[in-house]
Amino acid sequence: MYQEIDLEKIDLSSEPPIEEPARQYYFMAKCRTWIQDFEEEYGHKPKACVVNMGCQMNARDSEKLTGILEMIGYEQTDREEADFVIYNTCTVRENANNKVWGRLGYLNNYKKRHPHMKIALCGCMMQEAEVIEKLKKSYSFVDLVFGTHNIYKFAELLATVLEQQGMVIDIWKSTDMIVEDLPVERKYFFKSGINIMFGCNNFCSYCIVPYVRGRERSRKSEDILKEIRRLAKEGVVEVMLLGQNVNSYGKNLEEPMTFAELLQEVEKIEGIERIRFMTSHPKDLSDELIEVMGRSKKICRHLHLPLQSGSSRILKEMNRHYDKEQYLQLVEKIRRSVPGIALTTDIIVGFPGETEEDFAETMDVVEQVGYESAFTFLYSKRTGTPAAGKEDQVPEEKAKERFQRLLKKVQEIAAKKAEAYTGKIEPVLVEEVNEQDESLVTGRLSSNFVVHLPGTKEMIGKIISVKLNECKGFYFYGEAVNETGSAFAKKQ
Ligand code: SAH
Ligand code: SF4
Ligand code: F3S
Repeated sequence: MYQEIDLEKIDLSSEPPIEEPARQYYFMAKCRTWIQDFEEEYGHKPKACVVNMGCQMNARDSEKLTGILEMIGYEQTDREEADFVIYNTCTVRENANNKVWGRLGYLNNYKKRHPHMKIALCGCMMQEAEVIEKLKKSYSFVDLVFGTHNIYKFAELLATVLEQQGMVIDIWKSTDMIVEDLPVERKYFFKSGINIMFGCNNFCSYCIVPYVRGRERSRKSEDILKEIRRLAKEGVVEVMLLGQNVNSYGKNLEEPMTFAELLQEVEKIEGIERIRFMTSHPKDLSDELIEVMGRSKKICRHLHLPLQSGSSRILKEMNRHYDKEQYLQLVEKIRRSVPGIALTTDIIVGFPGETEEDFAETMDVVEQVGYESAFTFLYSKRTGTPAAGKEDQVPEEKAKERFQRLLKKVQEIAAKKAEAYTGKIEPVLVEEVNEQDESLVTGRLSSNFVVHLPGTKEMIGKIISVKLNECKGFYFYGEAVNETGSAFAKKQ
C-alpha cells in the first residue's frame, strides 16, 4: 500500500521497473531529487496547483494527481501563480473547452515572468485530435499534455518534463489497464469518491464521453471494497461510488457481479454511514437495485436519474433506449419502493430536431416527476458525435428561450419540494464552515439538500440532527437539535 512506500529507499541507479505501480514509484523518487534541488536553489518547496474542471470522475482523478505531487514533495496551493499548474479538463460541452483556451492565455503571461514554471494539461479535452493540433501549433509554452487513459503514468511523464525542454505529449487512444495502489490525496477527510468503473459504452448520440473516456471497464469488487475499508478506517463516513453508468457495473468482470450486489457489500463495511452513487442510466436500473435501496439503512434517499428529454421521439434520436412512459413508470416504481426518495436529473434543451411539441413533453415529465433539483443544459454540438452531423440544428435563440422556460419550471417545483421539508428534523453530514459567514457550517441531508446552521469547524465530518427552520428555495437554514428535538443551548 502506498502509505508504506519509502521513496528514499528506491535505488535510482538501477533501471526503472517494468511492472506497475512499482515503475511509477521509481519515477516519483526521481522527481523528488529534482524537488530537493529546487528547494536548495529557491529556499522553499515548489508549489503545485491542480485545477479540476470536470465532473466527479475528473475530481477523483485530480485527487490522484495531487496524491502523486504530494508524495514527490510539492506543496499544494489553490493559486494558479504557482511553480507547477495542471488543468484537468472537461469537454462535455463547448464552453468547457473555451474556458481552457481563455485561461491558458493568462498562464502564458505569468510564465513569461516566471520561466521556470511548468504547465500541464490532462483529462477529457486532451483526447480530442483537434485540441492537440491547436496546442502544438499555438501553445508551445505548455510543457506536458496527457489524456484520460494514462493518468497513472503522471509521475513518469513529469520526470521527463523536469529533465528536458519542449512539449511532452502522450495521448493513448484506449486502454484496458486499471492500475491500483497509487497515492491519492483526498479533498475531504470524511467523504470520498470511489471509481467503480471507467469509460462508457452507451454512445448517446450527443455525447463525447465514450470517445474521450473509452470503453466501459469495471474495477474488481475486492479492490473497491478494500479501498472503502481503508477509507472507513481513516475516518471516511460517506462514499460516492462513481461511474458513467453504475447500473451496468460488473458486466465485464471475470466473475460478474451486479451493482446491487456491490452496494450490499459496501453496506456491510463498518464506519461507512452514507452511500451515494453517480450516475444511473434509466435503461439499466434494475428491480434488484430498487429493492436494495428500499431495504438499505445507508444508501442515501437520493437518486440522480438523467432524463435528457421527455419526448419519446427525441429519446430515440438520442439513443437512450427508453421512452417517456418507461421513464415515468420507473419513477413510480422507485417512489413506491423507496419512500421519501429525492429525485434529481439532467436535461438537454435544443437537441437537433427538437420541436415545440417535444419540448412540451419534457416540461410535462418535469411536472409529473417533480424533481428536487435538475441540471439543465443547452445542447452543445460535439465534433465526431452522430448528433453533430444532423441538419436540423435548433436555432440558438429558440433553444435559449426554451431553456429559460424550463429553468423557471424546475426552480418553482424544486422550491415547492424543499418547502415540504421545512420544520422537519433530519440527519445532516456537516461538510464545511460556511464561506460567507464563519459563524455557520454547511452540511447535506440524505436527500442532498444543503443546510446552513450555527456551528464550528469541530462539527465537520459528523452526522448530527438538524431542525430545518427556514427554506430558501433550494437550501435551508437550520439548527442542531438533541434527540428530543430541542435546540442545543446557544453560546452565551
Ligand atoms: N453518464 C451520465 C452523464 C455524464 S455527462 C449519464 O448518462 O447520465 C453529464 C450530463 O451532461 C449529461 O447527463 C447530459 O445531460 C449533459 N450533456 C452531455 N453531452 C452534452 C451535450 N453535447 N450538450 C449538452 N449537454 C450535454
Ligand atoms: Fe454520455 Fe450517455 Fe455515456 Fe452518459 S451514458 S456518459 S450521456 S454516452
Ligand atoms: Fe467532462 Fe470528462 Fe466528466 S468530458 S463530464 S470531465 S467524463
